Amino acid sequence: MIPWNPHSWQRFPAMQQPTYTDPSELEGVLARLRRMPPLVVPQEVDRLRGLLAEAAAGRRFLLQGGDCAEQFKDCLPEAIEGKLRVLLQMSVALTHGGRKPVVRVGRIAGQFAKPRSKPTELVRGRELPSYRGDLINGLEADEAARRPDPGRMLEAYFHASATLNHLRALTAGGFADLHHPERWELPGGTGEVPAYRRTLDQVRESLDFLEALGGVQREVLERIDFFTSHEALLLPYEEALTRWIGEASAYYNLGAHTLWVGERTRQLDGAHLEYLRGIRNPIGVKVGPSATPDHLVALLDHLDPQREPGRITLISRFGATKIQAALPPLLKAVQGTDHPVLWSCDPMHGNGAESATGLKTRDFGAILSELRQAFEIHRAAGSHLGGVHIELTGEAVTECTGGSEGLSEADLAKAYETGCDPRLNGTQSLEMAFLIAAMMRG
Ligand code: PEP
Ligand code: CO
Repeated sequence: MIPWNPHSWQRFPAMQQPTYTDPSELEGVLARLRRMPPLVVPQEVDRLRGLLAEAAAGRRFLLQGGDCAEQFKDCLPEAIEGKLRVLLQMSVALTHGGRKPVVRVGRIAGQFAKPRSKPTELVRGRELPSYRGDLINGLEADEAARRPDPGRMLEAYFHASATLNHLRALTAGGFADLHHPERWELPGGTGEVPAYRRTLDQVRESLDFLEALGGVQREVLERIDFFTSHEALLLPYEEALTRWIGEASAYYNLGAHTLWVGERTRQLDGAHLEYLRGIRNPIGVKVGPSATPDHLVALLDHLDPQREPGRITLISRFGATKIQAALPPLLKAVQGTDHPVLWSCDPMHGNGAESATGLKTRDFGAILSELRQAFEIHRAAGSHLGGVHIELTGEAVTECTGGSEGLSEADLAKAYETGCDPRLNGTQSLEMAFLIAAMMRG
């Protein structure tokens, strides 16, 4: 193996990278990014690694969620607050029902790059270069917008920092305080989740009781942990946010607390794994139909040679009809190693469907079914599912069918807003959290 450094990935084949036409413009942007302040600090990254280690040991549960693709135009206070709110609401449901503290990680403040299956796509009958996320090109349906623009990396950095600044202010400033009922309201225009009302009442009663006993301090409830994540896809950007931390004698990616590698870019001899193996952050690995037991074991040896708890989260994403056959051999292979991984389940990316009108959608029932099977398969194998990874938003969108609102394919056009994959809306997300909490109890 060649010695690692932040740019050693450049010697390996890198999938899913755009071609920039002006190298000096690219270098100018990267030089500027390298001098920018980091978005997160190493102490936070280390803290998350510790929490994920506890999740791997079964003492905590990971809730990771957010947009498929964040868009710059959605860097709005209401949208950010909506996502934070729904993740907090879900974590109350999971903690209360599942009896475990929840580690909250957003797909947020940097989830701007998308892997695509094809280099071009049809947009209203026209063939255009595929949209690769706001970090790389624009969603507008014209050739000029679809050209990769290095300047977008700086824009992404500023949008990520504005988003994270707002998240930090909210989480430090009492946004999560259960004593403010208005902050815990369900998103407007969506259905009711009766279990949520009951849970909130119960949680508030318990807190009042503890407070009366002098057992909890107000500040403890007002401040909460919230971490950020995105897919490590565009390697020049990730490299520019990689920093040497002397006290730790290690490199950290300080653009997010944790990064994941996608199903399409986790080749053993590829640039993405080369980059990820050298940073201290916890790493997520999407594990889908193309993973074999041998590949997975080799990948773990590569990314986690020290066998370090909290380092690796394996995120299975097979689809409700495939998980039963695909997951058990991989679980067994990992159990045959001494890698202390955390298993999570992404029930979204294997359950894509197309509506009669050609919209990408996913069905609540299929998502639930994959989750249910994942819990059962882990239990039967003497393992445990320690987290979920979900594409969601706080808004009242209509992108996934099903749930108690009974969204049908005909309803999808009402509020279909995603820039990429369909997300659970606020109500569907919260309902799902209650169903997951019940599965956690077994
Ligand atoms: C994603 O998480 O948005 C994604 C593209 O996932 P995967 O790599 O699992 O397809
Ligand atoms: Co997606």
